[in-house]
Amino acid sequence: MTVTNLECTTLNSLRLIRRGKVRDIYEVNKSALLLVATDRISAFDFLLNNTVEDKGNILTMLTNYWLFKVLPASFPNLKHHVIAMGPPENSIACMEEKARLANRSMVVKKYQMFPFECIVRGYITGSAWIEYQEKGTVHGMPQPAGLKHGQQFPGGPIYTPAIKAPYGERDENIHPDRAREMVGERYANRMESLSLELYKVAHKWALHRGIIIADTKFEFGHDEVTDDIIVADEILTPDCSRFWSVEDYSVGQAQKSFDKQFLCDWLTVNDLKAKTGVKVPDNVIAQTRANYREIFLRLTGQDLDQALASGQN
Ligand SMILES: Nc1ncnc2c1ncn2[C@@H]1O[C@H](COP(=O)(O)OP(=O)(O)OP(=O)(O)O)[C@@H](O)[C@H]1O
Ligand SMILES: [Mg+2]
Repeated sequence: MTVTNLECTTLNSLRLIRRGKVRDIYEVNKSALLLVATDRISAFDFLLNNTVEDKGNILTMLTNYWLFKVLPASFPNLKHHVIAMGPPENSIACMEEKARLANRSMVVKKYQMFPFECIVRGYITGSAWIEYQEKGTVHGMPQPAGLKHGQQFPGGPIYTPAIKAPYGERDENIHPDRAREMVGERYANRMESLSLELYKVAHKWALHRGIIIADTKFEFGHDEVTDDIIVADEILTPDCSRFWSVEDYSVGQAQKSFDKQFLCDWLTVNDLKAKTGVKVPDNVIAQTRANYREIFLRLTGQDLDQALASGQN
């Protein structure tokens, strides 16, 4: 059985370390964490008073899909943090907790995370578009003149790191040189090239399936034993990326967000953008849920219900 509509978890078996916007994080042991993706949803950087049924499953199963089904063909030696999908067998005592965590949790190796997010942008939009209009730059890097909103960067995707801001505040976009100063060239350059390569492979994969990954964000940890950089957190999901549908794409305008368009439109029309404690009507949430499920179907080729039925993890 898979539990849907999960707002928040409280496990008896494991100690809660923190709640992120979407994930509840538990300590499994000294070197491992359990990341539980709930169905919480945020828009314009603020959490809503709603849940989107299945969302946590979709985020976890998509991360799983990329890491184990798509990326290994191009990155056979990719180092990532996943130890096992699903709850830790030996630590979760009761069946009810196991059921709650199935398909939406993963045990990961705990790492010291690098202090910035590695964003790759294939198309100009969002804060990059605003900066470009004002200064002709993106994260301080000069860009060709005459770019249109939503256009693909003519020279290929660009690497644009950002420092994570506290909840409710805007992340700070930084120049890649600043990232190099923060952690040293060796690590910064490795994160930059790996992020770009991962994006390129994922972009191509998604494009064939009707989804444009306009931009995405990777987070890396540092393995102190091997000195490797490790892909951590979720990857290439609609929560850490901008997904557009190929059929709606048109250069020269703001694009429709594949996952949250109904939500964003409703919040904007009702003047509730970036406010806390907002509860959105059921029909808007239902449409948002349908979009998340459609993304899962397009990328994996599998209907979510079938995927959930075909194996617990
Ligand atoms: N292997 C790992 N080791 C340590 N921390 C990790 C690992 N993988 C992910 N994390 C951290 O776990 C958190 C995931 O929780 P969640 O996605 O809900 O957070 P968020 O809303 O994105 O951001 P915030 O942390 O600001 O709330 C992130 O802070 C991420 O950096
Ligand atoms: Mg996150």
